[in-house]
Amino acid sequence: MESTIVKINNNLKELNKYGSPIYIYDNDILKNRIDNISKFREELEKELDGSKVSIHYSSKANNNPAILKAVKESGLYVDAMSPLELDLDKKCNFNNEEILYVCNNISKEEMKLVHDSNILICLDSISQVESWGELFPNTDIMVRINPGTGGVGHNKKVVTSGVESKFGVCEDNIEELLKVIKKYRLNLVGIHQHLGSLFLDDKVNNYMDGVKEGLRIIKEHFDGISIVDLGGGFGVPYKKEEEPLNLTKLAKTLSNELNKFIKDYPSVKEFKFEIGRYIPCEAGIIMGEVNAIKCENGVYWIGTDIGMNELVRPSMYNSYHEVTLLDKRNTKEVKTNICGNICESGDVIGRDRLLTIPKVGDKILVHNAGAYGFSMASNYTGRARPAEILLFDNKVKLIRKRETIESMEDDIVW
Ligand SMILES: Cc1ncc(COP(=O)(O)O)c(C=O)c1O
Repeated sequence: MESTIVKINNNLKELNKYGSPIYIYDNDILKNRIDNISKFREELEKELDGSKVSIHYSSKANNNPAILKAVKESGLYVDAMSPLELDLDKKCNFNNEEILYVCNNISKEEMKLVHDSNILICLDSISQVESWGELFPNTDIMVRINPGTGGVGHNKKVVTSGVESKFGVCEDNIEELLKVIKKYRLNLVGIHQHLGSLFLDDKVNNYMDGVKEGLRIIKEHFDGISIVDLGGGFGVPYKKEEEPLNLTKLAKTLSNELNKFIKDYPSVKEFKFEIGRYIPCEAGIIMGEVNAIKCENGVYWIGTDIGMNELVRPSMYNSYHEVTLLDKRNTKEVKTNICGNICESGDVIGRDRLLTIPKVGDKILVHNAGAYGFSMASNYTGRARPAEILLFDNKVKLIRKRETIESMEDDIVW
């Protein structure tokens, strides 16, 4: 398989037509990660006696229809967290049973939309169950619990288990939850938990602590549910020294616990996972241009057109993204800070990176930008969200146009 860099170099002239910066997704890598997850699904299902394993791609990571269609083609399912995601999922031909609506703090209007679409909903507080029950008594629901332990995540802001998390119903409140479910004769078909985003092999123990705790809570408090949803969090290496998640080992570890659970709790017929980041992350690169180079107070700064509005992860989570230059200049490598073009001190992509000093106009690449990249992009300080490109069969396929001043002004009521 040719590397993404070779493909970018082969197609540079064409890519330049779409402005800068641009998100570029390598279809070969995307397909490979989808295959890995499909294999994980099969391996785990084989280990479990008769229970189904469903993977719902968590489209919050990247909801471009090109990604959704690749997921659909592979036979995996999808989740939606907003009306737009639901609409995109439907337009990419996922049928109702393949979509799960996972939400928190939504309006009654949004509940009506989900209900009218005949999509299973996962609610995440007693208050939301009450609202749903008033509107739609006698219907199927899933509920998200907060197991209290086993939180995982690359940053505190994405850990979703424990007292600091806004999500789910904690064990102490389950009795109250069951009363509300009974009051509206709701049919609780499944329990959901999501422990946080991004664990690798070194944190699998932590993740499994959360899984075990969730399963214990289900056994102790809920009768006859048929679905257990264990959420997402499957990580990818962002740094060169990190190893990819061992999915075969994880399937084994999970199956040991899940089989023990099924013995005591035979009504469960399906285990769901909502995997986001793992699928598109490593396929994506954001390619920008160097606009300025300076050395101030002994520190080299490479000023680029990749601002925090295009890729917010470094400034929001302090996340590490590998940065490389497409053209290697014949200068010696020095420690540099790489930053964007937004008027904020936090608009920094990476610090202390060894790079050759580029020239203005050189192309710069920020790697592993396929998940929570474009999907978190904004128009902050009036900058356009970039075009998205799929590199397919070594050719450039435009999958989202770059915004223009006109399109950004379109919704303004003057
Ligand atoms: C409820 C829920 N499910 C699934 C995911 C996907 O997580 P990840 O991208 O880490 O797989 C998230 C993201 O944090 C989430 O909030």
